Amino acid sequence: MNVQKLFLGLLVFVAFVLYSCSNNTDQKSAAQPGNSERKWWKEAVVYQLYPRSFKDADGDGIGDLKGIISKLDYLKSLGINVIWLNPIYQSPNDDNGYDISDYRNIMKEFGTMADFDSLLKGMHERGIKLVMDLVVNHSSDEHEWFKQSRSSRNNPYRDYYHWWNADRGKPPYRYSLFDINHDAWRYDSLSDAYYLHYFSRKQPDLNWENPKLRNEVYDIMKFWLDKGIDGFRLDAFQFVAKDTTFPVWPQGFEKNFIKYYAMGPHIHDYLQEMNKQVLSKYDAMSVAEGAGNSFEDAHDLVDADRNELNMAYAFDAVDLAKPGGYSVLKLKEIFSRWDSAFAEKGWLSIFLANHDQARLVTRFGNDSDSFRTISSKMLSTFLLTMRGTPYYYNGDELGMTNIRFDKIEDYRDMPTLNEYKHLQQTGGDIPAFMKTISFSCRDNGRTPFQWDNTTNAGFTTGTPWIKVNPNYTTINAAAQEKDSSSCLNYFRKLTQIRRDNLALVYGKYTLLDKDNPDAYAYTREWNGKKILVLLNFRSKPVTVSAGLDVSKGKLLVDNYGGLNSGSQLRPYEAVIIALQ
Ligand code: NOJ
Repeated sequence: MNVQKLFLGLLVFVAFVLYSCSNNTDQKSAAQPGNSERKWWKEAVVYQLYPRSFKDADGDGIGDLKGIISKLDYLKSLGINVIWLNPIYQSPNDDNGYDISDYRNIMKEFGTMADFDSLLKGMHERGIKLVMDLVVNHSSDEHEWFKQSRSSRNNPYRDYYHWWNADRGKPPYRYSLFDINHDAWRYDSLSDAYYLHYFSRKQPDLNWENPKLRNEVYDIMKFWLDKGIDGFRLDAFQFVAKDTTFPVWPQGFEKNFIKYYAMGPHIHDYLQEMNKQVLSKYDAMSVAEGAGNSFEDAHDLVDADRNELNMAYAFDAVDLAKPGGYSVLKLKEIFSRWDSAFAEKGWLSIFLANHDQARLVTRFGNDSDSFRTISSKMLSTFLLTMRGTPYYYNGDELGMTNIRFDKIEDYRDMPTLNEYKHLQQTGGDIPAFMKTISFSCRDNGRTPFQWDNTTNAGFTTGTPWIKVNPNYTTINAAAQEKDSSSCLNYFRKLTQIRRDNLALVYGKYTLLDKDNPDAYAYTREWNGKKILVLLNFRSKPVTVSAGLDVSKGKLLVDNYGGLNSGSQLRPYEAVIIALQ
């Protein structure tokens, strides 16, 4: 398509930018210096799959491995090439699998090890790699290690966890993210001591200072890698290293707890040890949840020459969305700042949603009937055209929205229920809390995947563990399969475009029209290829001053299905143009 005819008005401002023509195709370019060195995990589109809510095959209302197996062709059709699966290990499910009682077994509700083997085989047959969660900041209190550890002060497993004997008085305050009382020390009368739990009291923190514990973790990692998995997402890993003298911290430290909890003593020694003993021996991808407090922390985690991890993900951008909206200028500033800090070294993760967040389109787009589809496509365009590895959360390809529960009984998320009790006990503002969680609670992102318009959205024949969003009758995969202009089919186009244009993976990122408060425009350049991305983040038409000649450009995609003859981007319009 000749972009000039249709799109002239939009980009006439123009200082004509010259770019050099090259006949090199993306695929020809071999290893590049710095962070352009080609790696499969850089070229991946990671699809995050929340197994509890994806597809239930046995009718117990809980998603399972056989359910995922039945949808492998759907997953392949998305054009994604890595799946990050949230925890599927044996667990009493205090925190939906993030409390593991046996790291080498499968959660009963999810199936068996034989199911797991079939799933992995089915994925590999379809060219999809599997990344598993590694949850080793803490275990479940029902793990055998903890049962032993708590049994007596002299038990050989005592030092697998952090204990403070009560004879020493009360330990210095530590904040718990999930506890009803916010207290991270729990008294245990069996040995008259307190144990530490940064998350819930059923998630005691493991003691990484103990080499025996570290070796147990490395053995667990090898167990799964030897089965053939392709990597790990390291849950809450920035918190594993602690100052075990437990100094007193200033009052109110919890308002800025990451500063105190993240990147404790020896964390890099542990990671280098893990890399040497495990990761370096496999072609495995590794990504840490959390990136510390500074770019220096983030680089120390991921720079290739340090032999620690491949990627980490930071929360600056995902934390921006608030019920009243967010600043697009701030969003651009954050992504641009991170990009420039990693322009030469290290590698970024790109995401705006996951299982700990409410829905992408509700938080960052506009989930009203008029704009849901178009704004959801615009956000997908953004995520798949930035430098870094995109992490894309299941259901976002359909533009699934927040369910907005109004009764506490509908919620399932343990920290949310605990905070509700905390507010009840302390006379907090419950109506305000209910309002906040209807926008931000992670249960919004965990409602069952909407497959079709049959009962329970085709997710289960039983009673779903959490309510299905009633909008499944119109927002579902079956309906979108048939509609060539659906969010689903648009997402497929995007993954294809990213596969075909390595400039979108490795290319230099340049922000255009920086001070535009409504639109996000940038180019990606690599090996003589230059791609322009224009995104309108508003529900009104917006003018972009890209300052580029697009007359010879080739339209790769437009979320309206064709370009505008006017001079502005339409509400939530997204356009990708290959300039070279
Ligand atoms: C981060 C995980 O993403 C979250 O779901 C979990 O609740 C906490 N870590 C504790 O494991």
